[in-house]
Amino acid sequence: MAHDASNMTPLSSLRSDGLKGKLQVPGDKSISHRSLIFGALAKGETVVSGLLESEDVLNTAKAMQAFGAQVHKDDQGLWHVTGVGTGSLLEPIDVLDFGNSGTGARLVMGLAGAHAFASTFIGDASLSGRPMGRVLNPLREMGVEVLARSKDRLPLTIKGADPATPITYRVPMASAQVKSCVLLAGLNMAGTTTLIEPVKTRDHTEKMLRGFGAELGEEINEAGETVLTLEGLQELTAQNVTVPADPSSAAFPIVAALITPGSDLLVENVLLNETRTGLLTTLVEMGANLTIENERESGGERIGDIHVRHSDLKGVTVPAERAPSMIDEYPVLSVAASFANGETRMEGLEELRVKESDRLSAVAAGLTANNVPHIEGEDYLVVKGGSNQIGGGTVVTHLDHRIAMSFLVMGLASQKPVEVDDGAVINTSFPGFVDLMTGLGGRFSA
Ligand code: S3P
Repeated sequence: MAHDASNMTPLSSLRSDGLKGKLQVPGDKSISHRSLIFGALAKGETVVSGLLESEDVLNTAKAMQAFGAQVHKDDQGLWHVTGVGTGSLLEPIDVLDFGNSGTGARLVMGLAGAHAFASTFIGDASLSGRPMGRVLNPLREMGVEVLARSKDRLPLTIKGADPATPITYRVPMASAQVKSCVLLAGLNMAGTTTLIEPVKTRDHTEKMLRGFGAELGEEINEAGETVLTLEGLQELTAQNVTVPADPSSAAFPIVAALITPGSDLLVENVLLNETRTGLLTTLVEMGANLTIENERESGGERIGDIHVRHSDLKGVTVPAERAPSMIDEYPVLSVAASFANGETRMEGLEELRVKESDRLSAVAAGLTANNVPHIEGEDYLVVKGGSNQIGGGTVVTHLDHRIAMSFLVMGLASQKPVEVDDGAVINTSFPGFVDLMTGLGGRFSA
């Protein structure tokens, strides 16, 4: 069921003793979406272990079924996807509901745009307010027709181009979703698609394209931009995919341990792809007692166990260039910054305004509710922290899972409980969050 004002479930966290133990957070959201999508395009049966079974990813699974792929989970917990082949998706007979997921909607628009049929995309109130022009514009250049609400918002219908024309596209904002939409469209049409990425963003689509057997050209041009070239209609071969633990979910227990005295946690099997590790770099600069153990490779990705202990943190400046590698982590970094001595300045945050909520203003409002001094700029945030926070506020989550989890983390170390107006939104990306944190010593109350 979609979350809206009618089924909100308030949730509070309370000051806790040290968080202790070993844990594994659920599978990476980006890799989970892509494993289903690439499985649906490949010939043969792809088997996925460790898939994130959150609402966002399950909506992508349903969409792949609607396009003709066979998707099921076996009794060992493995997901099986039998694909239909590139350029060979079937026309969905019903609307495609992506719930809260920008990644699912935007990547699948790329698939739909390259097929000569119509498909209709819907989502929850949060997704229906998010800009889709960033993916619709390159699709229009390929010949796709779009019928959308004003300002290119969901619900919308895409009529695939016939024939579609491959394009050369320079991504105007730092967005892996836009890059992936254009590459997925290009993969499903004849001809060569060229994508220029001025700022490097997460590279899971590129890794998975190659992992499924496609050739993808990659070079750095004179301006230092990454140029990807992809020949369309290459055949993909089904793979076994192991999804590592999501670093963006690991961020919550990691920050909880850093700010809660007496904590000592080992977070296992975390994805350490360098397009995703900006938060770890920042926390170490802040003085975090954090080490990476047992670093190894799994399925073409670097993974490791993160050992983290309560630490006296200090404020730092987080440069704008680091934003793409930690774009989903600023809400929880703001909570770490609240407990750090001195000022933390985070720059280059313009993309936070178009996430599941306007995350910059949602974080600022949450800090205000909990008496943490801060300055909110158009694209920056300064948090003036201190090791002893009062808490006591109620935070409006605006259907944003990361706002909910971030402020619940704050309450574990504050003097007074912190309440979020809706804990159910957490299922978007991290089902079992409260149980897992409770098992480590975190205190919550419904
Ligand atoms: C994602 C890309 C990022 C990120 C999102 C997942 C992806 O979005 O915020 O959670 O899987 O490609 P943008 O492309 O909007 O930066």
